[in-house]
Amino acid sequence: MSPEPLFRIFAKELVAQEVSQERWIKIPDEVMEAYRWLPRPTPLFRAYKLENFLKTPAKIYYKWEGANPTGSHKPNTALAQAYYNRKEGTERVVTETGAGQWGSALSMSSAYFGLKTRVYMVAASYNQKPGRRTMMETWGAECISSPSNNTKFGRSLLAKDPNDPGSLGIAISEALEDTLTDDKSRYCIGSALNHVLLHQTVIGLEVKKQLELLDVKPDVVVGNIGGGSNYGGFCLPLMGDKITKKLPMEFVACESSAVPHTTKGKYTYDFGDTAGMTPLLKMYTLGKDYKTPPIHAGGLRYHAMAPIISYLINKGYMRSVAFGQTDVFEAAVTFARTEGIIPAPESAHEIKFVIDEALRCREKREAKVIVFNNSGHGLLDLSAYQQYLDGKLEDWAPTKIEYPNMVA
Ligand SMILES: Cc1ncc(COP(=O)(O)O)c(C=O)c1O
Repeated sequence: MSPEPLFRIFAKELVAQEVSQERWIKIPDEVMEAYRWLPRPTPLFRAYKLENFLKTPAKIYYKWEGANPTGSHKPNTALAQAYYNRKEGTERVVTETGAGQWGSALSMSSAYFGLKTRVYMVAASYNQKPGRRTMMETWGAECISSPSNNTKFGRSLLAKDPNDPGSLGIAISEALEDTLTDDKSRYCIGSALNHVLLHQTVIGLEVKKQLELLDVKPDVVVGNIGGGSNYGGFCLPLMGDKITKKLPMEFVACESSAVPHTTKGKYTYDFGDTAGMTPLLKMYTLGKDYKTPPIHAGGLRYHAMAPIISYLINKGYMRSVAFGQTDVFEAAVTFARTEGIIPAPESAHEIKFVIDEALRCREKREAKVIVFNNSGHGLLDLSAYQQYLDGKLEDWAPTKIEYPNMVA
């Protein structure tokens, strides 16, 4: 499709970035100023205490994205999207959120740039994390449980099941439908699309510089994938080096075994939302109607994967692995007890891999350098931690994977 039909949905500059063939796009001064206020650059830590605990010769480094006012990497793109919308005269932005991290980030960024905001929050997370709604409302946004009675699509789902736990795909459909009812509104998206990964590359550009300053060369680059934005932003600048300089780096993307988009999904064209309103995108997908189990890592409950990450996995530049939530929380607790940080359940997925890899290094006596993106804190996920500590956390198997609307 041509980019023009997307102008009614997104700020024009963001559409231009989505389809850009440029290698570099400058960060506007206003966004740079906002990044300093987050503050950026974020720190790169060496996980000495975790290494000692695991008795591993591996060297573990992590980029810490959880120390800003909202608690994750999401403001890196929220500030950019709010800035371009403000510049183009948008009055109100509408979006979806899974765990609430993205909704919080856009709410805070809208307060910063002076925009009204409405957030459709996946019902399962809305109920699990009421504090996130309070944060969004504190920044002046509206937060609505999705599916909702606000949209035709939401009403159709609630008529079938009043307790529908929702999904990111459903919340995206509702946000799009809402955006189209009001000329002064534009839609903002928290992950998956090219322009979001582009904004997130600020993480990877910083980490490259930080590693160069330390004279450290990574062997394994790890992150979690919900829609693909934090890992994309973290690893793409390094992936550039792997491809152009033929560096022997390994890239590992971690997902939930309950939502195994890239480990069990198909690489094909599918919609980005459940109602089928978005353009078709070539990506790994479990099918737009996939019923995502209510795992606590709300940000990993998306049926599909960023086209860029999907491509890299499909072509073998990167591999992906999946973990169940009790193993993931066990890793999160080990991390908290050694490094002090209580990680977001999403981030704990890569921590699980990192711990396993560090133990493999112990067995093989390999001093690999493992670098991962610690995408956020779990301080609003404490009920999930409590369930784990009380031995009550459940593991979820994937639900039925169906591809009703696929183009081959
Ligand atoms: C802390 C955190 N990490 C990771 C993710 C996964 O999303 P993405 O793959 O877009 O980074 C989310 C999504 O909400 C999140 O909140």
